[in-house]
Amino acid sequence: MPLPFQQVWSPEDSVAIVTGASSGIGWELTRLLVAERSHVIVVARRRERLLELAETCDQPDRVHLVVGDVTQAGTRDEAMSLADDLGNGGLDLLVNNAGVGAIGPFAEASAERMRKVMEVNFFAPVEWTRAAMPRLRCVAERGKRSVVCNIGSVLGHRAVPDKSEYCASKFALHGWNDSLRAELIHDGIGVTLVSPSTTQSEFFDALVDTDPNQKSKSIGSWPPSRVATATLDAIKRGRSEVILSLGGKALVYADRVSPPVMNGILAKRGD
Ligand SMILES: NC(=O)c1ccc[n+]([C@@H]2O[C@H](COP(=O)([O-])OP(=O)(O)OC[C@H]3O[C@@H](n4cnc5c(N)ncnc54)[C@H](OP(=O)(O)O)[C@@H]3O)[C@@H](O)[C@H]2O)c1
Repeated sequence: MPLPFQQVWSPEDSVAIVTGASSGIGWELTRLLVAERSHVIVVARRRERLLELAETCDQPDRVHLVVGDVTQAGTRDEAMSLADDLGNGGLDLLVNNAGVGAIGPFAEASAERMRKVMEVNFFAPVEWTRAAMPRLRCVAERGKRSVVCNIGSVLGHRAVPDKSEYCASKFALHGWNDSLRAELIHDGIGVTLVSPSTTQSEFFDALVDTDPNQKSKSIGSWPPSRVATATLDAIKRGRSEVILSLGGKALVYADRVSPPVMNGILAKRGD
């Protein structure tokens, strides 16, 4: 039966999947969810980091590990079947958080770099959501709200030079996210897009095919715990979109007011 769209989401006794939980935002969000009595299926490639995460949670038995690459169907199948066991066929929350970046001019980049970034940041969230959909629907039919939360970026609202692959992937995620939200709005399934700006995580240590001398030119940053707190708040309140940080909001809203001015400011100069 369709639910009122604004019903508040509660972590208590929920089953959640968080991809990319072995560091940064996903790590912190898992800790918050577990502290509020959610069962969290944590997904990443580094097993030891996921074990460490479980140990730092106040209820380690609520953390369930799936070790693998999010771009692989086997990883997804394992997580979904674990969710079926824990949630009796239902899934309350899917957080598509795993992500990678790359820095450097498009003209000097390999075709492979674009493929890798798009696979992790766009095609993986799409396929994880496709697999989760019947399980999310099952929860909604039981009279509870379920949620898909996509971790985007302010660079999915305004693109900048030297991050073409990353911007393309986050713009794609943003567009797909908005279509999905409109399709599911009357089904009791919420779709939330969270767009952080620079966050102090391991993100810049794991850039794809990037010259180590390339540096991000972003100004100011948030700790991942702050991003995770804002994310959980957005999920609970059924927010459709949140753009985090003052700098992030300034970039996005200035671009909405005058794209040509922003194009001029961001134009790459050779000097
Ligand atoms: N950091 C920023 O400045 C920033 C700004 C805006 C948006 N974001 C977005 O926030 C999200 C989280 O990033 P973060 O800052 O927390 O970065 P992070 O600390 O580098 O975390 C990224 C997570 O994704 C996982 N991951 C990456 N590729 C994977 C793959 N192929 N399969 C499975 N897991 C994979 C990593 O785990 P393993 O390596 O163990 O697999 C790690 O747990 C990303 O979507 C990112 O685009 C970040």
